[in-house]
Amino acid sequence: MFAADIDRALPKKELYRELAAALESLLAGESDALANLANASALLAQTLERINWCGFYLVRGEDLVLGPFQGKPACLRIAMGKGVCGTAAARRESLVVPDVAKFPGHIACDPASRSEIVVPIVENGMLRGVLDVDSPEAARFDEEDREGLERFVKTLVPLVDWRRL
Ligand code: SME
Repeated sequence: MFAADIDRALPKKELYRELAAALESLLAGESDALANLANASALLAQTLERINWCGFYLVRGEDLVLGPFQGKPACLRIAMGKGVCGTAAARRESLVVPDVAKFPGHIACDPASRSEIVVPIVENGMLRGVLDVDSPEAARFDEEDREGLERFVKTLVPLVDWRRL
């Protein structure tokens, strides 16, 4: 079994470079969406420090529905445009929220979450879902995390058969 051996203390730019490379090797040869998203969330949980939740919400009709994740049980369904996830999905743009208490309409799944980052997943112009990462620390995520997680999603998109989710 593949074991990611990423030094969690690396500077962020290098950490995210290694994370994208690890994702490619982890998913090589498999395109099953459920399997690959499950392992992608496990890789993030194993690599990123000071987070309490990471995973996917997937487009189902007009809503986002909980997909593979690591962390406490979370809300199952988020309407497009609602919460941090629904807002990032509707705008198709990443959102870095330093203090979730100050984000109007934030949906609290784990009360321990203080800051959050959400990156939309777009394949060939189609919105497929979002990647959501929460931290118990205020202002845990910055521009380097945004770039790094956008790179992670960009690496992930061609490795998943999104039509068979
Ligand atoms: N906080 C998110 C909901 C999902 S949980 O954080 C896992 C939101 O406001 O959309």
